[in-house]
Amino acid sequence: MARRVAIGNNKGGAKKSTTAVRLAEALAKRGRRVGVLDLDPQGNASRRLGWTDNPEAPALTTSEAIEANAEGVAAQVWQPIGWQAEYADRISLMPARFTLEDRASEAGKTGAWRRLAKALKGADDHLDYVLIDCPPSLGHLTQMGLAAAHCALASTEPEYDSVEAAVRYRDFVTNSGDDLGNPELRFLGIVVSGYDMRVGAHVGQLGGVRQIFGDGVWGVVPRRALIANADEYAQPLSEVADSHEVRAVFELLAERFEKEVPAA
Ligand SMILES: Nc1ncnc2c1ncn2[C@@H]1O[C@H](COP(=O)(O)OP(=O)(O)OP(=O)(O)O)[C@@H](O)[C@H]1O
Ligand SMILES: [Mg+2]
Repeated sequence: MARRVAIGNNKGGAKKSTTAVRLAEALAKRGRRVGVLDLDPQGNASRRLGWTDNPEAPALTTSEAIEANAEGVAAQVWQPIGWQAEYADRISLMPARFTLEDRASEAGKTGAWRRLAKALKGADDHLDYVLIDCPPSLGHLTQMGLAAAHCALASTEPEYDSVEAAVRYRDFVTNSGDDLGNPELRFLGIVVSGYDMRVGAHVGQLGGVRQIFGDGVWGVVPRRALIANADEYAQPLSEVADSHEVRAVFELLAERFEKEVPAA
């Protein structure tokens, strides 16, 4: 079984999807086989990985994997990504489209919160890691993700509301393992992303994050237009000019990741 890590924050725009996609990229470059499981009906991670749906023959997505309510069904949903980079074939995608929203309204169905874990049973043995890109909520979709995950990682912008929402995510993870039938669930740490040292509030908030999370601060990703552009144009960072500094930051994050979450 792959080690599954749910990347979350209770606020939108906290760089969750960028953290998931770029960590997957850096881990794949290090030779790891990584699944990106898009658990957000916005489908941002899917699109940024170059995935496009075919309206003539719509692909299976996270939504169908959950809906099927059957053990191991997710094995049929992993797909190659659209990038051409030489390490791209080590990244698999469980894509999402807006219909995943329908699953969110089924929280009342018997055992609904276990359905993703059920779908993944035996369905990620070919991978080292699965990174679960959660929506900006602590609602049913995120709870399904946490019920299926071994650990949780937060990402945050260095801004008050985002940090406060990351603390809510941490506390939710720490307190909900038993309720989610996943008592081993562990909170790992936090990635601060979009940091601009010219912004006084960012400097202050980074200090606050370090006080709150201590050694759990895995890294600080600077605010760089090239990251937003690479996401916008669905590009791997290896294709982006002048991306050395940024790639080095994500490579360090991947190193920490491998240390904290040893592959099985
Ligand atoms: N370090 C960075 N520097 C500049 N822009 C960034 C950086 N990281 C991410 N971005 C951009 O910031 C925006 C928000 O990031 P992202 O979509 O990853 O956040 P999110 O938490 O997944 O949002 P949502 O809650 O909507 O899912 C995106 O346009 C992304 O490309
Ligand atoms: Mg997102």
